[in-house]
Amino acid sequence: MIRKAIILAGGMGTRMSPLTKAVNKQLLPLYDKPLIYYPLSVLMLAGIKEILIIVNKGQLSQFQKILPKHNSLGLKIKYKEQDKPRGLPDAFILGEDFIGKDNVALILGDNFFYGQSFTMKLRDSIKLKKGSTVFVHPVKNPNLYGVAKVNNKYKITNVIEKPKKFISNLAVTGLYFFDNNVIKYSKTLKPSKRKEIEITDLLNIYRKKNQLNAKLLGRGGVWLDTGSIEDFYSASNFISTIENRQGFKIACLEEIALNNKWIKKIDLIKQISFYGNCEYSKYLKNLIK
Ligand code: G1P
Repeated sequence: MIRKAIILAGGMGTRMSPLTKAVNKQLLPLYDKPLIYYPLSVLMLAGIKEILIIVNKGQLSQFQKILPKHNSLGLKIKYKEQDKPRGLPDAFILGEDFIGKDNVALILGDNFFYGQSFTMKLRDSIKLKKGSTVFVHPVKNPNLYGVAKVNNKYKITNVIEKPKKFISNLAVTGLYFFDNNVIKYSKTLKPSKRKEIEITDLLNIYRKKNQLNAKLLGRGGVWLDTGSIEDFYSASNFISTIENRQGFKIACLEEIALNNKWIKKIDLIKQISFYGNCEYSKYLKNLIK
């Protein structure tokens, strides 16, 4: 069972400069919430309460303003500063004390997921005891991502970072579940050409042991990139379209916490006074009724 997760919210966000010069990318608005609400909501939907957020050195106070340690979300949030990005698996080296002897999930701070059966798949993924499970999703341009070849038993038989030749249209998304060996394995990785340790090299260690499983977020699911400014705005539009049509918010952290029975309606009042007079608070007020 996985009860702990890491959100990797560092990085310079260079592709979105100058927007990211003063503010971390994960705090920019994805429609009506800071980007980090979306990956955090995914972990909460999975039922994970203990969360380590890895942030750039010097930006901790920005995050603490929006996600204070002692908030009313029913979560146990911890932070760790990173002096420079060394690649995704560095999360497990920096997070060693946080992880302890447990299994752990990782989500990238800029990944957006949505879909009808998604929560069910998440709840299933946290049952992991041994090996690793990663979420994969079909994309038109797999050469931009880590790509996985998956057999009919949902085992990953090949995984390559940004392959030049087509191997499959299944991108490895930024949502991963690992057993405790992940710390040990991450420490053995050598930096790639882009001078970072690579998640695909880590996944290959599991693959070679026949312990790398794929969870398919099929065509009814949504995984959006927020890498470039263009992607950022199309993801924002997607969220606005759904929210304004349905009247439900995507990634309302308090609503998920309430549904999980981690908080009570009375806790929403604290959150409403934290946010102040805004649309988001109005939505929370409706939840109390
Ligand atoms: C990283 C991983 C890649 C994965 C992607 C998901 O890519 O290296 O395997 O598919 O995240 O968002 P990067 O954003 O570092 O290019």
